[in-house]
Formats: sequence, structure tokens, C-alpha cells
Amino acid sequence: MALRLRHHRLRRTALAAAAAATLITGVLVGAGTSQAATSQPCDIYAAGGTPCVAAHSTTRALYGTYNGALYQVRRASDNTTRDIGLLSAGGYVNAATQDSFCSGTSCVITIIYDQSGRNNRLTQAPPGGFSGPAAGGYDNLANATAAPVSVGGHKAYGVFVAPGTGYRNNATNGVATGDQPEGMYAIFDGTHYNGGCCFDYGNAETNSRDNGNGTMEAIYFGNIKVWGYGAGNGPWIMADLENGLFSGVNQHYNAGDPTISHRFLTAVIKGEPNHWAIRGGNGQSGGLSTFYNGVRPNVAGYNPMKKEGAIILGIGGDNSISGAGTFYEGVMTAGYPSDATENSVQANIVAAGYTTATSSGGTVTPGTSISLRATTACCTTRYITHSGATVATSVITSASTATDKANASWVVRTGLANSSCVSFESKNTAGSYLRHQNYQLNLGANDGTALFASDATFCPQAGQNGQGASFASSNYPSRYIRHYNNNVYIASNGGSNAFDSATAWADDVSWEVTGAWTP
Ligand code: AHR
Repeated sequence: MALRLRHHRLRRTALAAAAAATLITGVLVGAGTSQAATSQPCDIYAAGGTPCVAAHSTTRALYGTYNGALYQVRRASDNTTRDIGLLSAGGYVNAATQDSFCSGTSCVITIIYDQSGRNNRLTQAPPGGFSGPAAGGYDNLANATAAPVSVGGHKAYGVFVAPGTGYRNNATNGVATGDQPEGMYAIFDGTHYNGGCCFDYGNAETNSRDNGNGTMEAIYFGNIKVWGYGAGNGPWIMADLENGLFSGVNQHYNAGDPTISHRFLTAVIKGEPNHWAIRGGNGQSGGLSTFYNGVRPNVAGYNPMKKEGAIILGIGGDNSISGAGTFYEGVMTAGYPSDATENSVQANIVAAGYTTATSSGGTVTPGTSISLRATTACCTTRYITHSGATVATSVITSASTATDKANASWVVRTGLANSSCVSFESKNTAGSYLRHQNYQLNLGANDGTALFASDATFCPQAGQNGQGASFASSNYPSRYIRHYNNNVYIASNGGSNAFDSATAWADDVSWEVTGAWTP
């Protein structure tokens, strides 16, 4: 009972996120080098005697010879799907396929394929101990464009997990069960995390329920302190072993597990009979450090382990859906990998060349002042403006008053809840931002809460009608900033509200990003 109560409290604080830091912008351009079909992470694990049994990535091949699909997207306009593959065997993702397929509409990631040949693909997680927000209690699917990056000079997209998003496979092939040895790594955005339970990747229960201590072995990333924690304020890489996130041998505090938040974070967990380890490093440079290497926790139920062999991404073992994070790639192995093998994998990750997205034309660059002009034929002289807390579109011309011009001017800020996205601070009301409430935009003073940060964060992408930019809501990623009857909403194409109308959708969600009326 105590655990249940604690868990509900956790769910209430679901959006207790932290986040933010580095600079970016949303819309990027492709170009760059091709990656030779060389030894990739799963070739390295195989050479070390611990082959991959699951290999997931939306950015690149994890075998030198892999030439299949990486993931599948589904677009909102007609509900059709498209597999997203590679530029070449063993190489980088062909993100242009996604861009053209999703042009003028929005897309979600429906399948993350398994490159290992075992068909351990990840799909929309079903309800379990907890239900997700989508139909039938399933979890949400990730917006396919919410986590843009560049890898080896090539445009790519990660899997952006807002709370409520989750992927799972409860019928796997070859994944460790019982006390069998296994290893795993994942690359996350170390600046995107929260204190909700539980942003995980790895081994979990096959019935999506809490089956007791030791029934999971997954990588956790975030700053929840209910179970284990390490040095500093977090986030930490920990092992989710069920009913406990472990940062070392002790149930709660372990000084050896540091706060770690590299923009591209390599996180490693591995376990074998009465032995496990936590490792981590910077996915852009340097090697891996070992943060724990020793016996199973000094808490009953974790030795021997009772792993069940399902695979989860973005959720807890019982389908707890309060975690947040971003995933780019990850694998699970059969057997306990050596440190040397993992060190070689880390070198491969660094060589792959993960970097933050570059902007096309710098149209939504943090620090700049802009105005946002509607592109629908009716309304091309209208801009997003505020009048006090009320937000609408208003006609602004060079003859407008200084106040009206300032009301139509915004300072682009790094996204309050996601450093890959942006927030819009009022030019003449410092500290107040465009945010949504009940799906309508207003101007609100930043109250420092995680909810405000999420409501005030928008992820830019190319304008859906081919003009300017469209902005997906960070916490409702299938909703976009849209004008309707001169009011401004976060709308869902063809949804149930009048402002969700499919008519004029692409035009209404596309905004020219102009120089600010008040620079
Ligand atoms: O172990 C932490 C979490 O506890 C698990 O992910 C979840 O299944 C349970 O609520």
C-alpha cells in the first residue's frame, strides 16, 4: 500500500521535469559525409562474444551490413505509414524520406525496428499496472520531428518521450530471462529528463505489471529521488531493477554515481549472477567511466534476478508513464559484455558524430527577436500578438502603434522544457511567455513549474504548407500552434474541437518568422 501511495504521488508530479541548457533551433538541413560500412556497435559486441539480441536506432545502422528499415512513421493526414531506412548499408538514416512523407502534416513514430534479426521491435506500449493516455489505455507515440539532430553531418530524428509516451515488446526472442547475463547501452539527450517514473530502456516484465523485486533490468535516466540517487542533484544513470532504481549497492544513496548530463549521453547497465555495473560517458568525446561495479543491491529480492525479457522504452516496468527523455539508439546483448568491448562501442559512438541540429536560415534562433506572421491567404497581414494575457492574431502594419508592434514581438528562448525546441518570451513583458492552457494560447508569467515550462515549449519544423515554420507543442506533440477565427490554439489536425478543423490546416499552422516589429 505504501508503495502504491508513493507511486500515485509520483504520477501527480509527472511533469516535474528539469531540462534545458544548450542552444539550438528546430529546422535543419541535410548534407555531410557517408559512413563506411564498417564495424558498428553490434559487430563489436559480437566480436566480444556478447552479441546483440536487440538493436534499436532512429539515426543509424548498428551493424556494418544492416540495410533495412530503422523505424516506421505514420502521418496524420491519411493514417498511412512509411518505413524510414538508410542512406547506405551500415550508414546513416535517410531522414529526407520522413521529411517528404510528413510534409504538410504531422507524423508519429509507430515502430522502432530491431536490427538484430530477432524481430524484437518496439511498438506502442499497451496498458499494464498503469494505463496510457491513448485509445484503449495504450501509451502515446512520439512525435517524429520533436528531437532533430545531426549525426555524421546527416539530419536525423530521435525518439522524444514526453510523459505519457511509451514503447514496448512483451514477446521477445533471445533477451535474458531469470538470472541470465546481459548488457545494454543507450544514447539519450542528457539535458532532457524529469523526476517522474520512469524513463527506461531495457529488460522488463512481459505482462506490463510490477511482478516484484528483480523482475526488471533496465537503464534509467532522470532525477527522481524516491528510490536510489547519486551525487549532486541529478540526473543520474541508474538501474531499474523493479521497485527500485539503483545507483549502487545501497538502496538509496551511492556517492559513486555522479550527476551526468552530456547533451549526448552514453548510458550503460549490465548484469550477471550477483554482479552488475553502471557506466556512462559523453557520446561526443572521451571514454566511459564506471560508476558502480559490484554485487547485487543489499536489498532482498535482487539476487538471483528474475528477469522476464520484455523490452521497454520511455516507461517503467508496470507502464508507469511519468518519465521524460529522448532516445537515439540502444542495444541489448546476450552475455555480460567486457569493459573493453563497451569501450570500443563508445569509440564507435563518438566517431559517429552526434551533434545538435543546425538551423536553416537561423529563423528561430534563441536570443533573436521575431514576429510570427500567418500564411493563410485570409490573414497574411496578421501576427501573433498579446494584449495583456490574451493572445490572438492582429493586423500589424508599419502604421501600427508602438504598443501594438511591441505586442507582436517575441524573443526566442531555448525551450524551457526541451533544449532542442524554443519558447517565446514577450518583448514588452519580460518573464512572460506564450503558453497554452486548455489548448488555447495566452501570455503567462513563468512560474518556474515544470508544467509551465512544458506548456510554453514548442518544437519548430518546416512549415507544413512549405512556408516558414510550424511549431509542435512540447507536451502535446501532435498539436501545433494554429490560428482559427483569429484566436491562437494548439490544434490537432481533424480533432474534435472546432479549432482542430482539417480545413486550411497546413496554412493555419504555418508561420513566417519575420524580424520583430520591435527589434
Ligand atoms: O523500479 C521503479 C519502478 O517501480 C518500475 O519501473 C515500475 O515498474 C515500478 O513502479
